[in-house]
Amino acid sequence: MLDSSGAELSLCDVPGVDCDKEKLPGDPLGNPRVFSFIAQPCDEPLPAARRSAHHAPMLTRRKFAEAAAAAGAVLAFGKGSAAVPAWRERRDLYPQGVASGDPAPDSVFLWTRRPPASGDPRSAYLLTVEVSKNKEFRDVVVRGKAEVVADTDWTCRFMAAGLKPATEYWYRFTDEDGNGSRIGRTLTAPKESDSRAVRFTFVSCQDMTIGAANAYRRMIYEDERRPHNEQLGFVLHLGDFIYEVLNYADEMPEGKYRGRRLRPLFKYPDGDKFRDYHLPATLADYRTVYRAYLTDPDLQDARARWPFVPVWDNHEFSWQGYQGIQVFGGEPRAAQTRKVAANQAWWEYQPARVKRPGANRDRFLAPAVKDTPIEYDENGFGRGADNLAAVESLTIYRAFRYGHNAELILTDNRSYKIADADTSAVSPAGFPMFVDEDTARIIDDGRTASGGKPPATLKFAGQDVPNAGVDQPMQTYLGPKQRAWLIDRLSASQAPWKVWGHSFGTLAWRTDLANLPEELGPKWPGAGFALASGGYYSEHAQIYDALRKKGVTGLAVVAGDKHSFWAGLTSADLPPRVYDPVGVEFVTGSISAQGLVELGDRIVKPDHALRALYYTGEHREIPAINYTLLHGVRAALALSRTSAAEARKLHNPAVAPHLKFVDLGGHGYGLVTVTDDWLETEFVCIPVPFERSESSDGGPLRYRVRHRVNRWKAGEHPKLAQTVVEGNADFSI
Ligand SMILES: [Fe+2]
Repeated sequence: MLDSSGAELSLCDVPGVDCDKEKLPGDPLGNPRVFSFIAQPCDEPLPAARRSAHHAPMLTRRKFAEAAAAAGAVLAFGKGSAAVPAWRERRDLYPQGVASGDPAPDSVFLWTRRPPASGDPRSAYLLTVEVSKNKEFRDVVVRGKAEVVADTDWTCRFMAAGLKPATEYWYRFTDEDGNGSRIGRTLTAPKESDSRAVRFTFVSCQDMTIGAANAYRRMIYEDERRPHNEQLGFVLHLGDFIYEVLNYADEMPEGKYRGRRLRPLFKYPDGDKFRDYHLPATLADYRTVYRAYLTDPDLQDARARWPFVPVWDNHEFSWQGYQGIQVFGGEPRAAQTRKVAANQAWWEYQPARVKRPGANRDRFLAPAVKDTPIEYDENGFGRGADNLAAVESLTIYRAFRYGHNAELILTDNRSYKIADADTSAVSPAGFPMFVDEDTARIIDDGRTASGGKPPATLKFAGQDVPNAGVDQPMQTYLGPKQRAWLIDRLSASQAPWKVWGHSFGTLAWRTDLANLPEELGPKWPGAGFALASGGYYSEHAQIYDALRKKGVTGLAVVAGDKHSFWAGLTSADLPPRVYDPVGVEFVTGSISAQGLVELGDRIVKPDHALRALYYTGEHREIPAINYTLLHGVRAALALSRTSAAEARKLHNPAVAPHLKFVDLGGHGYGLVTVTDDWLETEFVCIPVPFERSESSDGGPLRYRVRHRVNRWKAGEHPKLAQTVVEGNADFSI
């Protein structure tokens, strides 16, 4: 199939297009829904297409229309013949800027928002989008029109199609009066046959109410200075694009929250409150957060420079929420109406190829749900039509091939997640953050533990304590359907590297509290390791066992959520149980949200017996917690009396054989380079972004560290090689 320029079109690469060779069992994008769009004056065959002897371009148009329809976008294809108003830039009329997303080899999504100016009584604007090969728009290749209305909060989503692969394009929007948006830049994906190296960054956790987006400024500064063929292809956003929970500056002492200056960016028009925290209650509230966040100049510049590929984490809906449920003060609340509102706002503000029910609509069709009290089924999913309809109002898990080298597989870790296991009986007082690993993992497995015969009690601290998991489902965040889809997708991929975009990561954090010296006081009551973060052992075992059986290699997990940098190997379990890593994993520090090093005083006060495991020095100069988790307690405690290099000599190899790098105080982003033979991630770490940097590079760097893995064979374990390129990372390695 050829387009008018002669370029080969690969519709099967467009997620949402139903091509047999790509169709996989359970693929959420396998059945596109077709509907008609708002009338588009320029939606007609290209002149070149009309000359074609065999109607391929019409077929192409139909296929593109189906793909656009599946994701609820207006198709922009070909130049059309309709008159275009003269363009003059009026950024003030497009206050959230422009954006592009989910690049395919022949298409990309484009987005803007054009709200009415004050006093303008119009109920709709007709926007023209133009895509050009150059900034001056001398060579427009695609043009399309769509109406923006209040129903989509004045946002629009175009699918610009018929583009060439691995190509830079420029785009802009113009209303019928000639008022233009800023000009955006975007890039299409390489074709599957293109084996050149690809590069992308991954980011997460941008709390714009308490910090600055200096990381984006640094990303832009560095990318502008790279040779053209080494520039980033896209930004993978792993969630917490917004923080729905916030404090209002005028209600907090000195206008601060946990030491950070609160920006009075917005207040909720409706809203709800839990303690000091304000929360969104309605669609208008969720829209308010996106509108406010997107006025940030650095975030806006980043969205105007690269296509973003977004998934959500928890804060796009609710801090401790899952499915259509919120949790405040440990109590679950039915919140299906809020889940739908959160999904609608996400859909309106994120130009991504995601699926929502409702044919014949280029807007979000919110299901009518009620906040119905939840009863769980045997798998921990809330029964009833309201919970299911709320969750299925938007399906964001999806996969993209990106050139020869990479397949990007993105999961939704929150909508199908079940309630956390109750490990309170094995969380000893006096050990902040830690639970007993041996018993917690049995609780985590629920009624599937011990081959389906879970013990009624667990031995902990010399006592028998009730096993809270005895009648509970196995812990899952993917749910059975998405897990099956993920296994199929990972197994079927022909790409050398399968990049699993995973909002919160799989690497366990644990330490050897049993090795605490007696003079410190508290004695760890467990028989094994102390776990700070982990779980989902059996879910990961199912996935990784399937990969091992099929000889799948090249798994690279990229994650966010943890507000810290981590590099290591992913495995279903750790010694003394079976340790058999099947892939590498990288977790990025946050853009701006606070990490554990900054917040540690809230966990361990200066007079706490275990303070030295978290910090060394009167003013918390050294983040000893990194060493506690990476090397064990003896190495961490040694930091108060010796150098980092000497302390590392006390490394306990049993604690974290899976970890290579830990920084619980880092902010910034990860940059991934993928070739046929190796994959490398660079952590670009900046200081805490208290305020916006005034320099064009976004401010200083703390460090730049690379981890590279060569392709490994089935049956081998991956190996990470570490290079500190610049700065000081002594307390993270
Ligand atoms: Fe976060």
